[in-house]
Amino acid sequence: MPMIKKCLFPAAGYGTRFLPATKAMPKEMLPILNKPLIQYGVEEAMEAGMTNIGMVTGRGKRALEDHFDVSYELEHQISGTSKEKYLADIRKIIGECTFSYTRQTEMKGLGHAILTGETLIGREPFGVILADDLCVGDGLSVLAQMARIYAKYRCSVVAIEEVPQDEVHKYGVIAGSELEDGVYVVSNMVEKPAPEEAPSNLAIIGRYILTPDIFDVIRATPPGRNGEIQITDALQTQAVKNMVLAYRFKGKRFDCGSVEGFVEAINHFYQHWKEVEG
Ligand code: UTP
Repeated sequence: MPMIKKCLFPAAGYGTRFLPATKAMPKEMLPILNKPLIQYGVEEAMEAGMTNIGMVTGRGKRALEDHFDVSYELEHQISGTSKEKYLADIRKIIGECTFSYTRQTEMKGLGHAILTGETLIGREPFGVILADDLCVGDGLSVLAQMARIYAKYRCSVVAIEEVPQDEVHKYGVIAGSELEDGVYVVSNMVEKPAPEEAPSNLAIIGRYILTPDIFDVIRATPPGRNGEIQITDALQTQAVKNMVLAYRFKGKRFDCGSVEGFVEAINHFYQHWKEVEG
C-alpha cells in the first residue's frame, strides 16, 4: 500500500505567458507531441502510487475534466480500428485513478490554490504537481523519488534544481544544510528574490509533498510577493516550526509555461519518439 495516495494539481492559473493559445484553452492541455501536459503529470503521480487525483480548476478549464472522462461517441467510432491504440494510455489512467475537482474562484496565488484543494485532500499527506513543469525522472519519476524521501523523514519535501543566478527571480529559492546527498534541511525560503537577495541558486520547481498541517499554515499566511498567497511563505513557516526538506531530484525539468521550455520539451520527447517509432 503506498503511503501517499492523493495528488493535487493546482491548475487554475491564467497561463498569461502562453497567450493567445491559453485564451480559451487551459495551458495544462497544451500537447507535447500528442499528449497534453496534464496527462504527463497524472502519469507521474501514478508512478508514485498516487491514484487519487484532485484538481483545482477555474473558469475555462472544463477540457481538463473531459480529458479524464470516457468519450462514448469517440470510443464507438474508433472501436475495432487501428486507431484504438491511441486511446490505450488514457483508458488505463481512467480505469486506475479517481478524479475529483474543485474550483478556485479568485486567482489569489498558488498557496491559495492549494488551500482550495483542502476539501479534496483532507488530513493526509499529499503530492502536488504543477503540470506546466514537465519532469522526466532518472529511472524513477520525480514524485516517486520525493515519496521515498517523505517515507524516511515524514515532513514536507520540495523539489529543487540549480538555476543560473540571473534566473533566481522567477522562483522560490531556498537556503539549507545538506542532510544527505541532494537532501537539504531548509533554513530559509524566499519567493522570487532579486539576485542579490537570493540565499542560493537552488530553485523550487513544481513538485511538492506536503503534510496536511500546511492548510492551517496557509490560512494564517498573509499575501506576499505580487499580493498573492505564496506556498513558499507557508513552507517557510513550516520549516521554522517543524522541518521542511528540499530535494535535488534526479532527472530533467522543462518549464512548459514558457515558450522556450515548451519547445525544448517537444524536442526531447520527439527524439525519444523517433527512436521508438521511427
Ligand atoms: P504560474 O505562476 O505559472 O501562473 O502558476 P500561471 O497563471 O499558470 O501562468 P502565467 O505566469 O500567467 O503564464 C504556477 C501554478 O500554480 C497554479 C497555476 O495553474 C500553475 O500550475 N495557480 C497559480 C493556481 O492554480 N491558482 C493561482 O491563483 C495561481
